[in-house]
Amino acid sequence: MTTIRTFEDYQQVYRNSVEDPESFWAAVAEDFQWHRKWDTVLEWDFHKPEVKWFSGGQLNITENCLDRHLATRGDQTAIIWESNDPAEESRYITYREAYHEVCRVANMLKANGVEKGDRVCIYMPMIPETAYAMLACARIGAVHSVVFAGFSSGSLIDRINDAGCKVVMTTDGSYRGDKVIQLKSIVDEALEKCPTVERVLVARRTGTRVNMKPGRDAWWDDELKTVSSECPATVVDSEDLLFILYTSGSTGKPKGMVHTCGGYMVYTNYTFRTVFQYQEGQVYWCTADVGWITGHSYIVYGPLSAGAITLMFEGVPSWPDMGRFWHVAEKHRVNIFYTAPTAIRSLEKAPLSYVKQYDLHSIKVLGTVGEPINEEAWHWYHEHIGRGQCPVVDTWWQTETGGFMISPIANITKLKPAFATLPLPGVQPAVMDENGKELMTNNIEGRLAIKFPWPSMARTIYGDHQRFKDTYFSTFKGKYFTGDGCRRDKEGYYRITGRVDDIIIVSGHNLGTAEIESAIDEHSAVCESAVVGYPHDIKGQGVYAYVICYDKPHEEENLRKEIREMVAKIIGPIAKPDKIQFVSGLPKTRSGKIMRRILRKVAEGDTGNLGDVTTLLDPAVVDEIKAGAL
Ligand code: WTA
Repeated sequence: MTTIRTFEDYQQVYRNSVEDPESFWAAVAEDFQWHRKWDTVLEWDFHKPEVKWFSGGQLNITENCLDRHLATRGDQTAIIWESNDPAEESRYITYREAYHEVCRVANMLKANGVEKGDRVCIYMPMIPETAYAMLACARIGAVHSVVFAGFSSGSLIDRINDAGCKVVMTTDGSYRGDKVIQLKSIVDEALEKCPTVERVLVARRTGTRVNMKPGRDAWWDDELKTVSSECPATVVDSEDLLFILYTSGSTGKPKGMVHTCGGYMVYTNYTFRTVFQYQEGQVYWCTADVGWITGHSYIVYGPLSAGAITLMFEGVPSWPDMGRFWHVAEKHRVNIFYTAPTAIRSLEKAPLSYVKQYDLHSIKVLGTVGEPINEEAWHWYHEHIGRGQCPVVDTWWQTETGGFMISPIANITKLKPAFATLPLPGVQPAVMDENGKELMTNNIEGRLAIKFPWPSMARTIYGDHQRFKDTYFSTFKGKYFTGDGCRRDKEGYYRITGRVDDIIIVSGHNLGTAEIESAIDEHSAVCESAVVGYPHDIKGQGVYAYVICYDKPHEEENLRKEIREMVAKIIGPIAKPDKIQFVSGLPKTRSGKIMRRILRKVAEGDTGNLGDVTTLLDPAVVDEIKAGAL
């Protein structure tokens, strides 16, 4: 048994999944189309680390997302697309149409020299063509690397070069509220430093004038004119690469997390159906961007492989006004609504009339992801969006995990506000103490690790297996370390308390402090900087930068502006520091290590007890920092 309808089912299924993981996952995997069944369900060694699921199995994930639905639901909507502009007509794309579109885009890629194993960068807004682009890569066994279209050219360069992408897929521009962003010109700027890129395929979205480089750039719609709308799926192995997706790390360089085909398909489908308890015909809306893992797993692959109706929204929650989400939810009679705590907090601040003017009775299940949700936001969401009747599934997971790990199951798991509750079948969490020992009882707090593999875990960091090992498998021997802290209460419920490493989560986006520091240091006036997170009402965490300049700045405000712009240019607007404090020194230990604990305390506004500062090289600098706190 793998289906869960009651809490007793959950307990039974969970027990089975731990006692005999291989039989459990083999049973789940039966529900897919395989060209060849696997030889072994699981081979693993967390010390290497090496993990293989469904080895010997052969498949194509797009046949499971598209082809297999044609007979049963070919004319059913697969994707509802809602524009940034409320006046523009929505698009309803059936499974059959999606199938043909994906085949056409796949043929376009082939015609432009893309072969199995080649990396393709997708730098596109929230339009159906972006989903087609991802699926088209998968169709022919190419590896997609989607880069969030809010990133700047600097971030794009790093990601294209790290993956060695051969082709870039983009659009002329994109809409974001009342702004038009010149995506193609950002690509042009990046490509001056990306020697591996041979072709750029440009879809039209905004009609913005763009430069097309002869021999390199081609218009998507021109290319599509000559291709067939049938494209046989390339059969790949379970462990062949499906995609690379970059996430921030503790050092400046982002990590290209590698996901493979078989396990990812099985796990995203299973968790999507289980957690949301998706029913045939329901309209499901995840507000994430496809540039993040949530968009990959729970806008595209999970819902489509489950034959669901998935809504893709191009716009933002605040434009034309703060009622936009609720307008879209009413318009498309959304049944399952999945968003981020940061969005909830910002919408909660707006007058309730923005919610009240819409009929949200269609909503049956609510979800959140990306960061810990505070109780206040949880209650507001539950009461005002869910009418006090809809379960809120607080899904804890990561780019690295590929799919939900700890989460309530809608209408089955008893909820507790701000708790991700219980592990899903197949997930074996461990809470570790300071000394690396697993805490075996309840009512404890520590660091969260996972002690057994699950099918959609990342297999490596692209091109750097050693870093994969060091980051995730060295802190606790034989276990995967998540980087998060957590509490397990008396009932065994998990509450995620946040990152315990140098990653901060700003409006749900992971940012490495080192990455922001190196962007700030690019400014010619800056000698050194240190970045920490601090609690922010809406964003969850804000970016607080301590900056040492070569000369004492005369025009502090101007310099702040320039530094913020520098960061926006190098990483993207999401990483701009909220606060910049100019200092003459940083609290460093004798070995030169910055004591971030102190900087965090000051940024939090807690200057009372900074703990032991006697090991500092120059304790006086702490007084200066305290005095100048913003
Ligand atoms: C955080 C997003 C608390 C956590 C899917 C994790 C959460 C990081 C939750 C991964 C949640 C995600 N409650 N914290 N429900 N979901 N996080 O890679 O710190 O963008 O390690 O994946 O977000 O972020 P990522």
